[in-house]
Amino acid sequence: MVRVVQFSDTHLRASQWRHQRGFSRAVRRAGPGAHILVTGDLTVDGADHDSDLRAAQQRFARLDAPVHVIPGNHDIGEEPASPRQMQPISVQRRARFLDIFGSDRFDLALPGWRLIGLNVHLFGTGWAEEEAQWADLEQAVATRGESRIAVFLHKPLFIEAPDEPEAASWAVAAPARDRLLDLAIGGAIAIFASGHLHQALTRTLDETLHVWVPATANAANTPRTHGALLMTGAAIWDFTPGKFKMRFVQT
Ligand SMILES: [Fe+2]
Ligand SMILES: [Fe+2]
Repeated sequence: MVRVVQFSDTHLRASQWRHQRGFSRAVRRAGPGAHILVTGDLTVDGADHDSDLRAAQQRFARLDAPVHVIPGNHDIGEEPASPRQMQPISVQRRARFLDIFGSDRFDLALPGWRLIGLNVHLFGTGWAEEEAQWADLEQAVATRGESRIAVFLHKPLFIEAPDEPEAASWAVAAPARDRLLDLAIGGAIAIFASGHLHQALTRTLDETLHVWVPATANAANTPRTHGALLMTGAAIWDFTPGKFKMRFVQT
């Protein structure tokens, strides 16, 4: 069994004590010896403040564990299709993130599993990096063999229903959403696990589990649906070949 702890929406900044305390509480609840995933919104405003990105990077470096991160809208700005956006993703914002964290994606192979972290904010940019990300994901799905695939990304694929016309900036917008759902058909992607909404929820669509992982920083009354829980905390995943268990820990 391999344990993976997923934190999301840590919203760290050197002077933001409340969020730092929330993160430390979540780290204590998670315990030692696991892989750590952080699914975006690492910072309060890394999109405009390098110092926020550095504060988060330094905090994660103190964890005695391998840490794998992907960005959120607070870290590099939002994808072009997000109508609510005030900070668009830009080449410079992404370059700053890469400079400090090394990558905006991850690909972690475990026995019987492949855990893939995506940068959702590339969707709709038309950049070469967006196409490279799609190509890598499609290749992973096509060559998965006996392994199962879990995809980690900052935004959920939908709020109420997979065919909802538009969920403002709360979910991945079409056509990227539809492309992800098509790739998942038949359980080819077993899990989508996201942050962004600062709430906790699990639900199954066809043969895929969709998980909203709560923030370590604070709970938020963003669009709530299907009994989503307002809580702070993290998700603890235990992966064995062909199987997994997931539970939320409240902090
Ligand atoms: Fe957030
Ligand atoms: Fe977010």
